[in-house]
Parts: sequence; structure tokens; C-alpha cells
Amino acid sequence: MTYTQSAAMPHSSKTRAVFLVGFMGAGKSTVGRLLSERLGWRFVDLDRQVEARANKTVAEIFRTLGEPAFREMETEALRRLLQAMSDGDPTVIALGGGAFAQSANAEMLERIAAHVVFLDAPPDELRRRIGEDGRRPLLTDAERFRQLYEERRLHYRRAKHRVQTEGKTISEVAREIEFLLEEH
Ligand code: S3P
Repeated sequence: MTYTQSAAMPHSSKTRAVFLVGFMGAGKSTVGRLLSERLGWRFVDLDRQVEARANKTVAEIFRTLGEPAFREMETEALRRLLQAMSDGDPTVIALGGGAFAQSANAEMLERIAAHVVFLDAPPDELRRRIGEDGRRPLLTDAERFRQLYEERRLHYRRAKHRVQTEGKTISEVAREIEFLLEEH
């Protein structure tokens, strides 16, 4: 079966956006891209917007300007995106792993009652998925990775929905989110 926008999203006039949050390796961008294709929605990766605006990669921003500067750019990118989206096309948005852990960002999404989906998996699986990715400045040793995951998890749980991704294919996760959207 293929999912046309109307079959998958009978109330798409109401649901205009879905935000994917979660730790590094959760699959926010890969799942988000596939989900957007299935729904016929636009896909936005917030990290790519920050990079385009700064004309630097995320790793370069961390290295040359530091994490606090990156967080400001991230919040600014989210604010601009929400403004641009208010009357626009329905959109799937993948946030970077730290974005929803910043209360200013979480509050912006709560204010518009956005559909926020927390993609979760055990930290060992998340780490396996991303391997040795030199582009991720916060990919540190296993112990610190797990600790950061635990800290972040408290924030991610503010999300309206949670999808456990362990042992699931990208397609299965995307389908689960489609079901969530159909129910809400
Ligand atoms: C970050 C995760 C990254 C990126 C940046 C900071 C984080 O995004 O935004 O390196 O704080 O967890 P991904 O979750 O897509 O790796």
C-alpha cells in the first residue's frame, strides 16, 4: 500500500508539523526524511539550517565559536523556522540532539502545541549506530555519552509522543509516527 497524503493524514489541515527529537543516533534525520516523503510534506533538518546560515559546519561552529554560540544559532534558527512555517506547507522537522533540551526551544514548541516525537533507543545502541563519527563534536567516550543521554532523557520526556526505535527499521519507525499523527 502506498500512503497518499489524504489516506495517511485525513485531518492534515489541522496537523501542519511534526518535530523529531532525541539523542544523537536516534534516527531523527533519516526517519524524518522518509516520513516527509510518505506524507508528501517538506523536510527540514535544523542543523542544516544553522550550517547554511553560518556558512560553517556544526563541527566548525563548535570548534571556532563554542557550544554556547551554537545553541544561540540553533534557537534563532528554530524561531525563524516557526515564523516562516506559520502559514506554510506541512513540514517534518528533525532537531539536533541538544535542541529540545534547551527550555527556550521546548517552550516555543509547547506554545504552538506542536507534535513533538521523541525517538528513543538504549545508549549502547545509539552509540553503535553512529560509530566513530568525526562530525559530531559531542561524541565522547562511552561513559560520558551515557551520562549525557541520561541527562537529556529528562528533557526529551517533555515530548508529547515517544517512539522506541530499538530493533526497528527506519520504515517501521516512520510508520509508527504516521499512526500517531492519524490518532491525534
Ligand atoms: C548535538 C547533536 C547534533 C548537533 C550538534 C549537537 C547534541 O545533532 O546538533 O552536534 O547536542 O546532541 P544530531 O543529534 O543530529 O547528531
